Amino acid sequence: MATTLDVLLKEQRVFNPPKGLVEKSNIKQWMDKHGIGSYEELLEKSQDLDWYWDEVAKELEWFRPWSKVLEWAPPYAKWFVGGKFNITYNAVDRHMKTKNKDKIAYIWEGEPGDVRNITYAQLYEEVNRLANALKSLGVKRGDRVGIYLPMIPELPIAMLACAKMGAVHSVVFSGFSVKGLQDRINDAGAKILITCDETYRRGGIVPIKKNADEALENAPTVEKMIVVRRTGGNVAMKPGRDIWWGEITKTQPTEAKTEELDPEDLIYILYTSGTTGKPKGILHVHGGYAVATYWTLKTVFDLKDDDVWWCAADIGWVTGHSYIVYAPLMLGVTSVMYEGAPAFPEPDRWWEIIEKYNVSVFYTSPTSIRAHMRMGDEWPKKRNMSTLRLLGSVGEPINPEAWVWYYKNIGAERCPIMDTWWQTETGSFCISPLPITPLKPGSATKPLPGYSADVFDDRGNSLTNAGGSVVLLSPWPAMLRGIYKDPERYQNTYWGKYPAIYLTGDMGRKDEDGYFWVQGRADDILKVAGHRIGNSEIESALVSHAKVAEAAVIGKPHEVKGESIVAFVVTKQGIAADEALKKELKEHVSREIGKIARPDEILFVPDVPKTRSGKIMRRIIKAVAIGEVPGDISTLANPEAVEEIKRAK
Ligand code: WT7
Repeated sequence: MATTLDVLLKEQRVFNPPKGLVEKSNIKQWMDKHGIGSYEELLEKSQDLDWYWDEVAKELEWFRPWSKVLEWAPPYAKWFVGGKFNITYNAVDRHMKTKNKDKIAYIWEGEPGDVRNITYAQLYEEVNRLANALKSLGVKRGDRVGIYLPMIPELPIAMLACAKMGAVHSVVFSGFSVKGLQDRINDAGAKILITCDETYRRGGIVPIKKNADEALENAPTVEKMIVVRRTGGNVAMKPGRDIWWGEITKTQPTEAKTEELDPEDLIYILYTSGTTGKPKGILHVHGGYAVATYWTLKTVFDLKDDDVWWCAADIGWVTGHSYIVYAPLMLGVTSVMYEGAPAFPEPDRWWEIIEKYNVSVFYTSPTSIRAHMRMGDEWPKKRNMSTLRLLGSVGEPINPEAWVWYYKNIGAERCPIMDTWWQTETGSFCISPLPITPLKPGSATKPLPGYSADVFDDRGNSLTNAGGSVVLLSPWPAMLRGIYKDPERYQNTYWGKYPAIYLTGDMGRKDEDGYFWVQGRADDILKVAGHRIGNSEIESALVSHAKVAEAAVIGKPHEVKGESIVAFVVTKQGIAADEALKKELKEHVSREIGKIARPDEILFVPDVPKTRSGKIMRRIIKAVAIGEVPGDISTLANPEAVEEIKRAK
């Protein structure tokens, strides 16, 4: 039987937000305070960036106020010029003066079911102990600290300790393996690496320190390794280099100095995939990043004092940096943090967590929703999730089927879905509804207040109801400040196409109501299960194998993961291209980059289509592989290779 919901969707109608939610929302309160009567008026008024961000930034605590909100010399922006600030002061220290002191900051659950509740006061002490320990190891303001940790409380503690002392953290997702970790800590020039013995995943053990040890065999800048005991497993400690976290922090004072920083001082480097094999070290700073992440979380997910927030991402990605660590702590809310796999030991593990801890606002990715959808409606039905009031989605476009399933089965047709569009580079949500925004399922709706976006054709004309490049027209406080040690790549990647306008790299459409429909990446970047991986990163890993001459990697549409990884491989002469080699190559990529980059399919071909200058034509390969017409192939150096791709697939 068709429900009202199905009918609404078919007619592409708008979902108006529930009245009660709107009236009580944080954004509505703020609008009332500023005499703003409607959503449209809010969007318009907030285009006065100096006024809007000045008002917002006042909600945080500054050691010294700024004298100027924005200095914009494209492509470089400085926000809150002249101020003095520290994000950890706002996320942790300031709560010691309020009732938040004894509030739980993190309800942490390990995969085996162990639980740790950490109050703001405990967080404060742990952060201080580690900051003192880092200082004792010679870490100074501006030094880079590598962090390679799974989802355990020591991960946010380590980040906050670095930020407190003005050191720059570079977190590497614990799913990366040796080479992925090594490249990143070498590019960052990390002085210290913080890691742990092992972690749990799907009932098994992941050897974190073993990867770290191998990575450090060729990472000359790293002097010391601090090791958290998570599983208690037997790991080798290298004398003179390795120190147990427990031992070095135990004897430290529980008070530590908070550096009064320039708002433009770096807070972290986070690597993300680009179109070349080399990942980009995205730079973020203390001040603007704090203001925008804090404010977007407060207004989009409407967090109040008694909410329990769960962002089910990994802190190894920007989603976790911004919305598991910094923003929720600045807001003083209670967050859930979960270590393990989503459907372990049973498919209702997540729903059990929501029930157990009374989660009220929940944020995840379309990939996870689709995976749960496949496991069946009976799993969420087992659990009482009546505490939920808002849901969120991020990482990829959310397809209508997944939207409806999420809305019905998790939100019980009661919770609006905030589809937040943003990137590692943007630091904070950019295009997203607020709780007062009428929703159109599948659209991230409109740019948030203080942001402005458009869809451009190749010449920079604004398009309505036609596909083009999604661009951001004005600077925003949490925008990236550059690519570490590579200003040229920063300029070319983001600001080279349209002057002073930020190119997101996404394709999309803006409809007649100004709603954005982001379709996916325009460049050679894959989105596999919400993870961003460069085609060329996987190709480099493949050709680093002794038996491979050439490789071309494409993404093929996949029902659950969005895209699956397909690699066309040309073997070196005299090599048997067989099943055993396919397996070997998949393992090789897992070892080089991490499981997230493991090809789903490997196909052997005698050649791959290339231009006369030798550039592999992935677009043509992809078209053939998914059964589309490849278009003009006359400019290829080897058009016959197209036939070979057809035969292989
Ligand atoms: C890319 C950024 C930002 C957190 C997670 C990913 C895609 C992100 C949406 C959305 C459609 C989305 C874009 C973007 N993306 N959110 N709501 N709707 N697409 O961060 O790894 O830097 O990836 O994710 O393609 O460019 P990231």
